[in-house]
Amino acid sequence: MTAYLLDVDTGIDDALALAYLAALPDTEFVAVTATPGNVDADQVARNTLALLELCGRPGVEVAISARKPLTVPLTTTPETHGPQGLGHAVLPEPAGTVSRRDAVDLWIEHARARPGELTALITAPLTNFALALRREPGLPELLAGVVIMGGSFYHQGNTTPTAEWNTHVDPHAAKEVYAAYRGRPMEKLPVVCSLDTTERMEMRPEHVRELAEAAGAAVPELVLPGQPEGLRSTSDNTVIRHLSDALRFYFEFHRLYDQGYLAHVHDFFAAGVAAGTLDYSASPATIDVETESPLLAGTTVADFRGLWGLPPNARIVTANDPRQAFRELVSAVGGLAARLG
Ligand code: BDR
Ligand code: CA
Repeated sequence: MTAYLLDVDTGIDDALALAYLAALPDTEFVAVTATPGNVDADQVARNTLALLELCGRPGVEVAISARKPLTVPLTTTPETHGPQGLGHAVLPEPAGTVSRRDAVDLWIEHARARPGELTALITAPLTNFALALRREPGLPELLAGVVIMGGSFYHQGNTTPTAEWNTHVDPHAAKEVYAAYRGRPMEKLPVVCSLDTTERMEMRPEHVRELAEAAGAAVPELVLPGQPEGLRSTSDNTVIRHLSDALRFYFEFHRLYDQGYLAHVHDFFAAGVAAGTLDYSASPATIDVETESPLLAGTTVADFRGLWGLPPNARIVTANDPRQAFRELVSAVGGLAARLG
């Protein structure tokens, strides 16, 4: 059993990450917390509750803490993930409600109560995690491990030419988090899934078709570049219908930016790294984040050679295997969709 503390900004690829973890037989969602990013924190929390219920995981505690980044004003990205954050998907209103507890309190309490047991996965700006580290500097030792989706090293940014979205939304939080990990034991250093490897996770229409087949849906799920934008799925399978509507929006967004009719499913990859189900390799490095320069705000820099004379504070994923990852996604989420009908 893997017990998770998750922090998300759901978000289409966050939704896929949640669906994937929900599909695995040995996932315990200890708490899922919302950081503002793709959409505001309240919308993140609503999307997360609705998605977990859709995926057969009602009753998970979903909580909010920060409602804005540490220093800079909040920016959200309706053009990337749709006005509500789930593309063209319209999920039923969740039966559950957002916890009244503070998300940072929850992280600290759970980590202290179960030392060495909880795996942290953060697929959002690092705002809540930075606040948790301020309050409990022992958090890295209390957690079994941490996986972060964020950053861009030898790769174009997706927000500015050099900056990745999660880091760009809250560069000060990211800087604090990496500073807090300096000098920690290697096995506790965050595994960082940056654009260098997450943009290799190109989800395409054939993957949606394969998902629906694996779910035993009655009709082939065809999300095609020639179809009108915003066309809604009529699948008889509820999970497939909603994921297809969400992914169609993501395909349309990537096409708009000349990346093809596909979607980079960054957060799904990070979830697979956290679950230990996806193949990858990683190298230790020291990460720092630019917070001052208007030109480079949110840019992540990695020192792989010890040129700064500082100890490593992260393990950066340097290679992954998209074919294996999509086989795993189709089999796991297709199986979940088949079970839920
Ligand atoms: C990250 O930014 C968000 O829009 C995605 O959900 C992902 O976590 C990729 O840069
Ligand atoms: Ca995200």
